[in-house]
Amino acid sequence: MLASPAPSFPVARPRRLRTTPGIRRLVAETRLHAADLVQPLFVAEGLTRPRALTLMPGVVQHTRDSLQAAVAEAAELGVGGVMLFAVPEERDAVGSGAVDPDGILAQAIRWAVEAGDGLPVIADLCLDEFTDHGHCGVLDERGRVDNDATLEVYGEMARVLAGAGAHVLGASGMMDGQIGATRAALDAAGHEDTLLLAYAAKYASAFYGPFREAVESALVGDRRTYQQDPANGREALREVALDLAEGADIVMVKPALTYLDVVAAVAAVASVPTAAYLVSGEFAMVEAAAATGAIDRRTAIVEALTSVRRAGASVIATYWAAEVARWLREEGH
Ligand code: PBG
Repeated sequence: MLASPAPSFPVARPRRLRTTPGIRRLVAETRLHAADLVQPLFVAEGLTRPRALTLMPGVVQHTRDSLQAAVAEAAELGVGGVMLFAVPEERDAVGSGAVDPDGILAQAIRWAVEAGDGLPVIADLCLDEFTDHGHCGVLDERGRVDNDATLEVYGEMARVLAGAGAHVLGASGMMDGQIGATRAALDAAGHEDTLLLAYAAKYASAFYGPFREAVESALVGDRRTYQQDPANGREALREVALDLAEGADIVMVKPALTYLDVVAAVAAVASVPTAAYLVSGEFAMVEAAAATGAIDRRTAIVEALTSVRRAGASVIATYWAAEVARWLREEGH
């Protein structure tokens, strides 16, 4: 009787594709590029020196000079763009500083454009940094965020920011109709070429905590009547569909790491680029864990950003943008 052939398990050896750094590099499905990363930057009115943030190691509120240096550095490193958030000295109920052509955000745009040599300058289009109650819109007589009155202010703010030279406006307020209203306001003022980055699926997240220190937010309470409920994924697709119909040029999901399923679902259906924002609390978690030695900082940062790309985002806003761009350059990418 013939002996039966020796079983030849394993039948396949996927490990062969992992044998050396060179092979792994050859077959990597996802790569980070500096051009896909957007560097958020904070600029504060009335500062004489950059001010370090206690909750975000290595991140500062910039002065004009340090902002221009950071923008020039980002451009030199090949980062894809910068995203500006401004901290005014004074706030009021309607966020007047947001529509002031000489306000801190409009000024910061001019400074960044001057220093950036063509680097895309994205400006935050939202009222929360400018209102004394800290909400993203104006309030009605009962203290609720008034959607349609807010759209009027966004339209005016958009004209001011585009007039200051912003290439892209990041519509982050989560008001219904904000993309359509802003697009119409921009077009009517001759700013047809100013892009709208829609924070299409923006969740009411605890992971924005450190950002509120960075912009000295006045908010008491939460934003749950306008930002999305973390329980809902399908709703993100509705928000994206509306923003696309209203003319969004780029759609963004925020936060990123806790919403990778949403990033993937949006990227699968969006006919425009999908962005994701790795937010301040996600940044702070990695930094805190790395500071204790619990995780290796650089490896964890690259893994986190790679995961966001793998999920389908082609643009990633991250506080590590310039640093990662430097690593990529060192590694010869
Ligand atoms: C609102 C805005 C926020 C962030 C970006 N734009 C805060 C919020 O919605 O409360 C958070 C960004 C971060 O946490 O890194 N203009």
